[in-house]
This record gives sequence, structure tokens and C-alpha cells, in this order.
Amino acid sequence: MKILVAGASGLIGWDAVGLLKTAGHYVRTLSRDPKRAARLSSLADDVRLADATARASLDGVCDSIDVVVSALGAPVSPTSFARTSYLETDLVANLALLDVARAAGVRRFVYVSVHVEPSYAQTRYARAHTEFENALRSSGLEYGIVRLTGVFGALREMLPMARLGVIPLVGDGRALSNPIHESDVAACVVDLALRAEAGLELDAGGPEVLTRRAIAELAFRALGKTPRLPASPPVIARLSSMLIGLVNARARDFIDFITLASTHDCVAPNRGELRLGPYLEAKATPSAGS
Ligand SMILES: NC(=O)c1ccc[n+]([C@@H]2O[C@H](COP(=O)([O-])OP(=O)(O)OC[C@H]3O[C@@H](n4cnc5c(N)ncnc54)[C@H](OP(=O)(O)O)[C@@H]3O)[C@@H](O)[C@H]2O)c1
Repeated sequence: MKILVAGASGLIGWDAVGLLKTAGHYVRTLSRDPKRAARLSSLADDVRLADATARASLDGVCDSIDVVVSALGAPVSPTSFARTSYLETDLVANLALLDVARAAGVRRFVYVSVHVEPSYAQTRYARAHTEFENALRSSGLEYGIVRLTGVFGALREMLPMARLGVIPLVGDGRALSNPIHESDVAACVVDLALRAEAGLELDAGGPEVLTRRAIAELAFRALGKTPRLPASPPVIARLSSMLIGLVNARARDFIDFITLASTHDCVAPNRGELRLGPYLEAKATPSAGS
């Protein structure tokens, strides 16, 4: 089968490309940054570069493709300098890709989305994803949607903070979540990409339901350090979101989302096998570069 993976240089896209190549499929990739995409040339059959928010730059990218997998989105990260908002990237770019896919006669489109709870359903981050899901459902294409809680790769960003000695918690740290390894998400995505059924949707979390405090403690444990987890009231996060929003829309949207997602339970059905503790321990070794 000929498959386009959009967002292939990212956490989930990268693992999806690996699984599809191992299964013997032709894989074309789409991403934007040439340096990050350079790593893909040893893995994929065809590496394309384009800014998908510009519809014209996608010309030809879906030609002769059977299935599009999109893990394309703005970074879900506190440390990224990306400024473009989630609505502008996740919604606008994916709508452009869907349009190009339909025009090129692509049969199926699989989208990597976010598991949404009512507490944060109205954030711009969640809305960007749910609005695209609605567009995909009414597109006329066969589709698949995987909605995940959060991936281990994003939580890896706690390691530098733990190394410095402090991870501030938003709220009291008692809210629950079950993060999932990116390769477990990629396995769900590839499964939906290769199935013949139309309209498949699933929510995906990992095997362990943990409090936010326990998740942060695992980062300290991976480094052999004593946890220091001061609680910061959500109002502080809301104030910083207002200030940061003056210069960076994506960072504002990220803080708004993460403040609500970390102070309310965010738990999805278990679709993973890998556990967070051993993952962070492996990433904490000097050779892993965290
Ligand atoms: N990470 C999480 O914990 C998490 C949780 C729930 C849902 N999700 C959702 O899952 C999806 C994938 O997440 P991820 O963590 O794998 O993302 P990621 O690591 O940040 O990767 C995003 C990918 O999208 C590409 N991209 C971004 N803007 C683009 C544009 N304008 N044109 C072309 N390519 C563009 C990036 O390419 P470049 O490398 O060239 O920038 C990269 O390949 C996103 O929709 C995200 O919101 C993620």
C-alpha cells in the first residue's frame, strides 16, 4: 500500500513510519523543517517538505497515495518557540491536507487527535482537533481517528526540570491520567490505516493510571533524586497565559490546555503496553541526552 505520513518527523509520526516500513509499505513523508526531515531519508521512500498551512505547497503530495496518516500538529510542548496557534496549524493545515487528499482520490485518512474530557473541551487546543475530526467525518473519505491522552515523549521534558531540582505542579497534583508510549499510539494508528472498515474511532491511553504528582515523581526517580514538587495555584498559570498570549498564541493555548488537563482527570481506555518509569529511566542515561 502507498501511505503518506504527515507529521513524520514528530513523536508519533516517526514511529508510524517505522512500523509501516517494517510491514513492507511504500511510505512518503510530509513535514516542514529540513533538518528534522533529514533523519527520515534513511527510512522513507519519498521525503517531501512543505508548510501545510499553505494549501498550494501541498500540490502533488497525495498523488498515487492510498492512505493518508496525519500526526501533523503544532508542538505540545512548554519549551517550543513555535508561535502559530493550534487552530492555525492543527486545523488549517489538516483541512488543507484533507482537501488535497480528496482531490487526489485518496481512499482513507487517519488522524491523530487528542482525548477530550469536558473540563478542557472548550480550550483552543482541544477545539482545533475536534473541529478537524468533524470535517473528516463529513469528508466522504473512509476515516480513522485515534484520540490519545499524552505521550511519554512529551513527559520526557520533565527530566531537565527534575535535574535542576524542581518540577512545579499545577494544582495539587491529584488529578489522574494514563500517558501512552508513542510507539503504542503508532501501532493503533497503523492498525486503523491498514483496515478496510470505514469510520473507526478510538481513544487511547497507557496501561498505568497515575496522579500528576506520581508522574512527576517518576522523573526524579529516573535520576535518583529526591522529588521537589511545589504546588502552584492554577491562577498563576492563567495569569502567565494572559501575559505570554501577548507574544505567542501557541504557548498561550498550550498553558490554557495543560492547566485544565493537569487539574482534572484525563483517562482513556488502555491501548498500550509500555510503562513510563522504565522509559524515563532509559531517557535519563547520559547517552540518551536528556
Ligand atoms: N504529544 C502529546 O502528548 C499529544 C497528546 C495528545 C494529542 N497529540 C496530538 O497528536 C498529534 C501529533 O503529536 P506529536 O506529539 O507527534 O507532534 P510533534 O512531535 O510536535 O510533531 C508534529 C509534526 O507535525 C509537523 N508539522 C507541524 N506544523 C506543520 C506544518 N505547518 N506543515 C507541515 N508539517 C508540520 C512537524 O514537522 P516539523 O518537524 O517540520 O516541524 C512534525 O513532523 C498532534 O495533533 C498533537 O496535538 C499529542
